[in-house]
Amino acid sequence: MGLTCVFNHYFLKLMHNMSDLILETKNLTKEFLGFVAVNDVNLQVQRGHIHALIGPNGAGKTTCFNLLTKFLPPTSGNIFFNGNNITAEKPAQIARRGIIRSFQISAVFPDLTVLENVRIGLQRQQNNSFHFWKSNQCLHELDDQARELLAEVDLLEFENEITSNLPYGRKRALEIATTLGMKPELMLLDEPTQGMGHEDVDRVTQLIKKVSAGRTILMVEHNMNVISSIADKITVLARGATLAEGNYQEVSRNPAVMEAYMGTSQGELEGAH
Ligand SMILES: Nc1ncnc2c1ncn2[C@@H]1O[C@H](COP(=O)(O)OP(=O)(O)OP(=O)(O)O)[C@@H](O)[C@H]1O
Ligand SMILES: [Mg+2]
Repeated sequence: MGLTCVFNHYFLKLMHNMSDLILETKNLTKEFLGFVAVNDVNLQVQRGHIHALIGPNGAGKTTCFNLLTKFLPPTSGNIFFNGNNITAEKPAQIARRGIIRSFQISAVFPDLTVLENVRIGLQRQQNNSFHFWKSNQCLHELDDQARELLAEVDLLEFENEITSNLPYGRKRALEIATTLGMKPELMLLDEPTQGMGHEDVDRVTQLIKKVSAGRTILMVEHNMNVISSIADKITVLARGATLAEGNYQEVSRNPAVMEAYMGTSQGELEGAH
């Protein structure tokens, strides 16, 4: 490479880092036997944002997540993370880059204590999990780190509690703590408040807001109160395609969005306002 070339290379890289997009999809498409579940989606997630993906049932939100985390290969289109084309990468590579999808609750061990669960997450991160029996000391070195994570999600007082005894909302908080242990730059949350009562919804909403500091969050969420209170930007999917985009004010007034919700979850968009 000539000197000008080198300069251009770094200049372009610098420009890219300054453009605030952490995640971008270009014409992302997923077909299942001819059925188009995700159709030509161009997602642009800005660094530092809480970005919500909403849409009626079957809109393609979870499929989109599965494409982003490489659980599924796209039929066509590309995915860029921090300017790198990650379309062909494997789930483990994506995770190493810092794209972490929050575990399902079932991935938390119910018979272990809260602290033990977070510690196991940290061990996994350090690739120690297959020889953890070697040294007890090695285990306890991770305790401080685990406690820090528990403090971040307000679970420190429950550290010795058996996980299955935790109320539902607290289990979600634990799940978020184990996810944070994997040092996410971009956290993907699929319906984090699903199945919760009011109190837990509020707690988890505030928790998401809190842990979003210094990170980026992409979340699928049906609860419009949650969306209106914490989402910086919203992408509305319907039948696999992007229907609208913007902040809550913009999106909730969009006639196409209201129509897409009619008959399926009418009134949901009224949210908190
Ligand atoms: N593995 C698959 N094979 C065939 N069709 C699928 C598959 N996965 C999803 N689909 C279909 O793709 C469409 C989008 O599904 P997806 O689960 O992504 O929707 P969603 O927006 O997450 O819906 P919900 O709000 O109900 O969770 C649906 O019609 C679904 O039936
Ligand atoms: Mg879904």
